[in-house]
Amino acid sequence: MERTFFVTTPIYYVNAEPHIGHAYTTILADFIYRFNLSLGIDSYFLTGTDEYGDKIFTAAAEKNMTPQDYSDKISGKFRAEWDSIDIKYSDFIRTTDDRHKRIVQYVLQKIYDKGDIYFGSYGGNYCMGCERFLTDKEMVNGKCPDHNKETQYIEEKNYFFKMSKYQDWLLDYIDKNPDFIRPERYKNEVLSLLRSDRLEDLCISRPTSRLTWGIPLPFDNNFVTYVWFDALINYISALGYPDGDKFKKYWSAAQHIIAKDILKPHGIFWPTMLKAADIEPYTHLNVHGYWNMDDAKMSKSLGNVVTPRDLINKYGNDQIRYFLLKEMTFGLDARFNEDLIIDKINFDLANDFGNLINRTFNMAGKFFSGKIPEFGNDNAGRDDLVAGIKKSAEDYILFCSKFQISIGLERLWEFIRSLNKYIDDTKPWQLAKDNNTDKLSSVIRNLLEGIYGISVLLSSVLINISPQIIAALNAAGASSNLDALLSMNNLTSGTVLGELGILFPKIEKAKPEAKAESDKEKRMNETGLIDIGDFSKVDIRVAKVIKAERIDGSDKLLYLTVDAGQEQRNIVAGIAHVYSPEDVEGKKILLVFNLKPATLFGKESQGMLLAAKKSNKDKPQVIFIDDTIPIGARLG
Ligand code: MSP
Repeated sequence: MERTFFVTTPIYYVNAEPHIGHAYTTILADFIYRFNLSLGIDSYFLTGTDEYGDKIFTAAAEKNMTPQDYSDKISGKFRAEWDSIDIKYSDFIRTTDDRHKRIVQYVLQKIYDKGDIYFGSYGGNYCMGCERFLTDKEMVNGKCPDHNKETQYIEEKNYFFKMSKYQDWLLDYIDKNPDFIRPERYKNEVLSLLRSDRLEDLCISRPTSRLTWGIPLPFDNNFVTYVWFDALINYISALGYPDGDKFKKYWSAAQHIIAKDILKPHGIFWPTMLKAADIEPYTHLNVHGYWNMDDAKMSKSLGNVVTPRDLINKYGNDQIRYFLLKEMTFGLDARFNEDLIIDKINFDLANDFGNLINRTFNMAGKFFSGKIPEFGNDNAGRDDLVAGIKKSAEDYILFCSKFQISIGLERLWEFIRSLNKYIDDTKPWQLAKDNNTDKLSSVIRNLLEGIYGISVLLSSVLINISPQIIAALNAAGASSNLDALLSMNNLTSGTVLGELGILFPKIEKAKPEAKAESDKEKRMNETGLIDIGDFSKVDIRVAKVIKAERIDGSDKLLYLTVDAGQEQRNIVAGIAHVYSPEDVEGKKILLVFNLKPATLFGKESQGMLLAAKKSNKDKPQVIFIDDTIPIGARLG
């Protein structure tokens, strides 16, 4: 059967306008959709808006609008926002669409007829922000930790879905399909929820006496459907479940993208709902972290919301796509500020890629009147370049397929940097001076071929600039097939290169800050001292080692799974020559929590354990922490 690919974003609530957090997930989905298309895979990309429930009803009332008018307006804004930044969704679903309502009722009836929905009574702490009841364990000081708001105690008669019936099935399914939820930390989070308690059944209705803004239950119109039960079904209603062609074609290749905030509904409610309705589970749930504005969560109430369109107008669409995709390590939170965007543009795009293009095009202009030269007879170094692009492209494809886009891009950049080094090593200006046209032709041709290959590979990220480069190389009709690409022989000798100008202009940072920063660095260099602000950037937390194991092939490294309070982390620690796994299991240690992850012996290390040694010759001694200090406590 032909390979297919189906990617979804969450459908966004219409109680807030689109911001950069929503844009990230949508750009990531757009990237992965275009990336799969470029591999020749028949792909489909779904996004949309979530319009029912208490939250929307209240937001509409505050604006003196009917919930439908209000939803129309905000849903329209989401769609317009995505259109304006060239998001190529295949379908945009709204939960108020008739096609969706029908299927929600169909699924409810199916599960009801099966006996998995019953009528009962429930009292619990409801968080309006999450639109769900929280368990005691999830609350902190009587509040929802995500929304920092008191929950409301609600007791009423309602319909329940027998979620608990599917707990063991789900545990088993996740065990057998280790990539079902990825990255691993979120799989572990779901597993620990499933293992720690008996699942409660899911309350799936709201009485119309309390809320009318919802889809009526097909078997009792005194109730409307609970918003999460309704919303999750969008992923299949949009494909025309149960009989639609799109459902038949794409569902078996479904991959959801969400952020960690909505892990429980997607990791637990949704697969059990699918199971109850006799539908195959999705293939992967891909969970990314949160963008934080310099450590604070982005939210309307904090007034630090950044709109995608403003940013794109300021820095460029391709530049923002590159920044977002490169800066966030899959699964981890990322910091968002404009300095970081400027750094990515100046270093990666302008210095590395932009310079490579400018230098090559200028030299082709100067030495070959702007025409693409033939390869010369002396082509020393070409084999390394061909091997280089092969390795980079394969890694890029491998990592991007696993949603580790930032690592994939890094691998591609290794090839870009190697081409810049090739210029420095071969010194084309010297070859020209020596009249060595033969070798000079090879060098320039190899560079142009390399630029072509990179531009094709990057065309899912740099959606406007890649086609410009390809057009300037007169290669719009050349093969973009991977094998052809890797041959580094795709351009037509003798054709005239187009004009490109400066593709990635460098951006100056705001002066006063830049100066303060360099003054600070100078002071630090002079005295060797850092100030408290510098120190506070390092987030060190108490964590407990849950599991430790040796890493095959290394006698120095242990692979630890630690509980850091809010989340589990895996870290690689260079202590295996001093400590056995049993020495550290169950002990509390200090963990550098905000260290950029690194991969060692094929394992991602998501932080660093603190150890001390007197000199480099000594063995490290792990700093074990008194058991009375709680897990997650921050050092400072
Ligand atoms: N309506 C539900 C989803 C139903 S899906 C069946 C919902 N909507 S939401 O508008 O709150 O969107 C949440 C999602 O927006 C996150 O899971 C993430 O994809 C994206 N993000 C919102 N803010 C974000 C950040 N600050 N950082 C990263 N992603 C963010 O939940």
